[in-house]
Amino acid sequence: MKVVSVVGARPQFVKLAPVAQALDGAGHEHVIVHTGQHYDAAMSDVFFADLRIPAPDVHLAIGSGSHGVQTGAMLAAIEPVLADAAPDWVLVYGDTNSTLAGAVAAVKLHLPVAHLEAGLRSFNRLMPEEHNRVLTDHAADLLLAPTEVAMNHLADEGLAARSELVGDVMTDVCLQVRDAVAGDAPPAGLDRGGYLVATIHRAENTDDPDRLRAVVGALEALPVPVLLLAHPRLRARCEQHGIALGTGAVVVADPLPYPAMVGAVVGSRGVVTDSGGLQKEAFLLGRPCTTLRTETEWPETLADGWNALLPGLGGLDEVAVRPAPTAARRVPYGSGDAASRTVEALARRVVGE
Ligand code: UD1
Repeated sequence: MKVVSVVGARPQFVKLAPVAQALDGAGHEHVIVHTGQHYDAAMSDVFFADLRIPAPDVHLAIGSGSHGVQTGAMLAAIEPVLADAAPDWVLVYGDTNSTLAGAVAAVKLHLPVAHLEAGLRSFNRLMPEEHNRVLTDHAADLLLAPTEVAMNHLADEGLAARSELVGDVMTDVCLQVRDAVAGDAPPAGLDRGGYLVATIHRAENTDDPDRLRAVVGALEALPVPVLLLAHPRLRARCEQHGIALGTGAVVVADPLPYPAMVGAVVGSRGVVTDSGGLQKEAFLLGRPCTTLRTETEWPETLADGWNALLPGLGGLDEVAVRPAPTAARRVPYGSGDAASRTVEALARRVVGE
């Protein structure tokens, strides 16, 4: 079987890692296409190096741009690569503009396309990722879902026949890395168990200056140090609007490589974020998470209070430092074998075999 993976943004590199390993382990041919959506070393190269992902076979170097410009440039650049590779499957990951471009390029060429992390829904149509998910799911031939909830969303949209539950590949990586970093010292000289990890990058939190000022102000006022791992978009918007980063409780740092990020969460007392992936990682690593959004695509994390939605910011100083729940965590994301199940599902459904 020949598979072309299309990736481009940080969370996709994490998902690619176990899939590349599983494809290689099963002796399949794998071509990696990097759109170049993320291009800073800290947002891209370190993931390939740390997670031992083979270097991309093709790098399209598309870079940043408005949604239409970026997605359109990717679509045009991906098409000849897929036509030339003629794979059994084009595999797209998650919900970024690279996902949508890969899926559309593939279906226009009548190449079978599989969507990994299918069926997630926020039902928030203001999020660019929500459109990317819905459009990709409806275009794809095979929908590889991480959870029962995602399977139900796909069924509700008439897509059950094309859907298969494989589990969550980010869980595979997170559990593997957790064991490797256990015992590492917390970053920035922080005390183990005495700080929070924070990330903010979504447009709804960064692009309106009043909202951004309120979010940063709420983090500054927290009663324990807050390690703020600043995405380039956050830094750019703060600079643009004259918002200083690094005052009060906030300790600013660059985005961390994946293993260091897992280590930072393990060493923390909790997480404050608007990232989908980090909400789930906090859950898997047993740290309470406070999510600065109105909804989550990972509702399983809300069970027993492991994750709390706090879009209004009110009471963040108490909610963010609440103790970890005592209830045993459920296991909604699989047991770490989602990548091999993904590869099996693809191999089983190769057209013509
Ligand atoms: C993208 C995804 C989002 C994902 C996030 C992970 C879409 C619509 N959004 O959002 O789902 O959670 O990646 O980080 O695809 N920039 C740099 N260097 C980089 C990359 C970006 O400086 O390597 C800056 C640029 O100013 C750019 C901005 O960040 O315009 C936003 O980057 P972009 O890839 O458009 O979206 P993300 O916010 O990263």
